[in-house]
Parts: sequence; structure tokens; C-alpha cells
Amino acid sequence: MLFDPYKIGDLPLSNRVVMSPMTRSRAVENNVPGDLVATYYAQRASAGLIITEGTSPSPDGLGYARIPGLFDAKTAAGWRGVADAVHAKGGRIFVQLMHTGRVSSELNLPPGARVVAPTDVTLAGEMYTDVQGMQPHTKPHALTDAEVESTIEEYVTAGRLAREAGLDGVEIHAANGYLGEQFLNAGINTRTDRWGGSAENRNRFVVEIARRLAGAIGASRVGIRISPYGVFNGTGAFEGVDAQYLALVKELSALGLGYVHLLDHSAMGAPPVPEALKSTLREAFHGTFILAGGFTKDSAEAALVERRADLVAFGRPFLANPDLVERLRAGHPLAEADASTFYTPGEKGYTDYPPFAG
Ligand SMILES: Cc1cc2nc3c(=O)[nH]c(=O)nc-3n(C[C@H](O)[C@H](O)[C@H](O)COP(=O)(O)O)c2cc1C
Repeated sequence: MLFDPYKIGDLPLSNRVVMSPMTRSRAVENNVPGDLVATYYAQRASAGLIITEGTSPSPDGLGYARIPGLFDAKTAAGWRGVADAVHAKGGRIFVQLMHTGRVSSELNLPPGARVVAPTDVTLAGEMYTDVQGMQPHTKPHALTDAEVESTIEEYVTAGRLAREAGLDGVEIHAANGYLGEQFLNAGINTRTDRWGGSAENRNRFVVEIARRLAGAIGASRVGIRISPYGVFNGTGAFEGVDAQYLALVKELSALGLGYVHLLDHSAMGAPPVPEALKSTLREAFHGTFILAGGFTKDSAEAALVERRADLVAFGRPFLANPDLVERLRAGHPLAEADASTFYTPGEKGYTDYPPFAG
């Protein structure tokens, strides 16, 4: 089944192998993806669907060094180059909208931008900056009600820019402890206004982004990534987590969203997402359901055959194997990803992984 075609709404995919979103920190020129980024994605265009690296809808969300943005003419022009290169090879590509929120250092932000989050609590620990190496996270500014609204509108503008640039759609990043999950997670979001204090209120930020994006670019061109039970970036399960995610997914289903992309990071050391929650969410969502995290050809095939998912996403295998789909199909061995070049600028460990040579 992995190699069978599929459709998300009206968008035909040539197979069911998705490339997981992976930050690569190669947008070296003012957070604009350039030719090297276009080459990297074009090399991987045989994926049924590419989901790009996390890309900020706002200057405020550029918390990591050299991650791309999508909020003005220059960043959109960079993404046009990427979309054209992938489409020229017959691929499909959604851009992942990742606002880093409090997972940020002001040293990584462009002039005039600031670190923002649902509350002003600083994330523990340090992060890498190009200018001063490892630095503590910056204390965030707690968004006011009006600023939450304008932040939501930044996502909507990014969605419009994405489609104008020729990208096939957008994925809302509501996983891994970035801004979306900072609102969802009761351990982080202690607001008492309409954006916090209850499951419905904590879901509101993400639901409003989804609703307005669906109105702007069409619901089937909008997906979302979630990681309940993840522990990355100060997250973790909280009381009522299952019920909150079920309510969230029901609302997204009612909006007719293109897909829900559920990430289980247990392959990377996090607690597993309970199987019962996965199947409850799968049943509650009437669109496409994508599973990600630690998949092999056999486990992906099993997930499809058992109808636990419609599509399966691969991360690290795609990073090291530009021709992953062909290798899986032919049963060729897979190259291992080199973690030392995950986030370094330049071609090494990026565009120099060769296709299978036999
Ligand atoms: C280098 C690297 C960068 C990543 N960046 C992102 C990201 O920008 N957004 C995201 O949602 N997940 C990100 N992830 C998580 C992957 O999308 C994926 O879920 C994870 O690697 C587990 O899947 P795998 O076992 O197939 O690699 C990243 C993973 C890696 C290895």
C-alpha cells in the first residue's frame, strides 16, 4: 500500500510516503530559503508529500538560527523557488508553519522582533545562537489578547503567501513545544482569559488558526501536526490531555481540515502516545490521518494495512536517502543520517547524500 497513490482533497499524491518536517538551518540569507534549499527538496520530490522544515509565519517566531520565514515578499520569493523545483520533479509540498514562541533566543531574531508566548515564563535550558554560541532562552513577552489575534493573522497571511508562491498547502505546527503547543499544554498555558483556563480555551488559538486558514486557502490545503504526550521543550502530559486532544481533533474534523499528523516520539526517547488515544483520534477525524515517528518500511506498511493511518511520515531516513521511496520499493539498504550536520550551514550532510548506486 505504501506505493499506492492517494488524494488529500483534490491533491493527488503519487504514493503514501510523506517526508517529515525537519529543521535544517540552511536559510542563511536573512531567513530566506535559497537555491541550496530548493535543490535539497527537489532531490526528495519522489515523496508522495514533502512537509518542509519549520518555517516562521512571523519575525517573532524565528527563534532558531537560520530557519526560514514566510511573512513578506522576500521570504515568499524564496519559497517560490523551492515550490517550482519540487513541482518540476512531479512532487507535492506543504510548508510547516512553526512559530517558535518561547523556544527562542533574542540573539537569533531579526531587529525589531521579540520573543513571545502565552505567558512570560522562561523555558529552562539553553539554545544555540550563531553570535554567542549556547545561551539561555530569552524570557518571553506574554501576548495580550490583541496580540494573540494579530499572531493568528500572521499564520493566515503566511498561508496566503504560501499558496501564491505555488506551495500546495500548509501544516500548522502544534507539536514539539512550539507556540501552538504552548497554548495547548496546560502545564505551560496558565492564562485565565479566553485563551486559557479550560480545554476549550487552550484549544482556541490552534482552532482559530485552522478556521481562518481554511477560510483563506481552503480547508483541504491545511494540515496540522500534534504530539500529545511529547516531552520536548518543556511539554509533557497533563490532567485531561486525552479529552482535550479529542475535542481539538473533533473541531478540526468539523472544519474539514486536510489532515491530522500525529507524532509519537517514543522512538526518540519520549513516552509513547497510548494506542487507545491514537485510534480514538483517528476515528474522530474524518480527513487524512498521518502517523510519524520511528517508522520502517514494514511498520509503515502494517499501519496502512491495519488502517491505523492513511499516510506514513519518515524523518531521518529521508534526510539521508533522497531516493527513499525507490529504496523502500526495491528493498535497497538505507544510509544513516549524520547528526553532526543536521543544523550546520552548507551542502555537507544536506545535498550531498547520494541516491542508491547499486
Ligand atoms: C534534524 C531534525 C529536524 C527536525 N525538525 C523538525 C521540525 O522542524 N518540525 C517538526 O515538526 N519536527 C521536526 N523533527 C522531527 C521529525 O519530523 C520526526 O518526527 C522525527 O525525526 C521522528 O521521525 P523519524 O523516526 O522518522 O526520524 C526533526 C527531526 C530531525 C531529526
